[in-house]
Amino acid sequence: MSKIEFNVEELANEYDNEAPEKIIKLALENFDNISISFSGAEDVILVDIAKKIKKDVKVFSLDTGRLHSETYRFIEQVREHYNIEIDVLSPDTESLQEFVAKKGLYSFYKDGHKECCGVRKVVPLRRKLSTLDAWITGQRKDQSPGTRVSVPVVENDGAFSTEKNQLVKFNPLSNWSSTQVWEYIRSNDVPFNSLHDKGFISIGCEPCTRPVLPNQHEREGRWWWEDATQKECGLHSGNLKK
Ligand code: ADX
Ligand code: SF4
Repeated sequence: MSKIEFNVEELANEYDNEAPEKIIKLALENFDNISISFSGAEDVILVDIAKKIKKDVKVFSLDTGRLHSETYRFIEQVREHYNIEIDVLSPDTESLQEFVAKKGLYSFYKDGHKECCGVRKVVPLRRKLSTLDAWITGQRKDQSPGTRVSVPVVENDGAFSTEKNQLVKFNPLSNWSSTQVWEYIRSNDVPFNSLHDKGFISIGCEPCTRPVLPNQHEREGRWWWEDATQKECGLHSGNLKK
């Protein structure tokens, strides 16, 4: 199927009840120029599933410069374990230096995470996505009742498409629960970030992530000083409009 014939809305309905394996297969069979957006957390299962379908899967990771050392090690572990290349993307040096010179290293605690995430994640992501036809993310509905309840399994990327480049975004884990993800990790012996052993569930940058208490929602460990309905860093800002 060519990109033109790929009817996203129809497929989103058709594949809504399908397993992540089938959705990833659909993505890889229809797009050569596609990459998995890997955060260094439990979304490793995207890599595990994709690797079983296709040998040379493309993966990228946004290195904000503020990830936990455990996450950096895990990214390298994944690279070796699956024998894949991971495109590790850095922020633009000049913009980052300018931002840090002006605002310091912890401005997000005072005036919100948007600006820092913008420089460290969104700009490098936009640069990367401009070279792709489609991307695959590990977003799930159950990750955030505040922002992700309507994430479809496949969508036109309203946030990063341009006039020249209509980008398709796959969210194969959208309908899976955290329990299903961890059942998959355990039953398939998938390697995982050692932060999970220390009580972390959702993992982002070190200053903006903390473990949660029993029965707290996983998203409460991210940007805990901000309102739950605003907890998107710009990678998935389309969710805020829904
Ligand atoms: S975030 O927007 O709040 O940071 P979250 O941590 O829930 O996102 O992860 C959802 C999905 O976004 C991940 O499964 C992954 O596809 C993508 N993602 C998040 N952080 C990164 C990152 N640092 N590098 C690459 N992809 C990421
Ligand atoms: Fe900056 Fe925190 Fe966003 Fe990381 S999550 S880019 S440290 S505001």
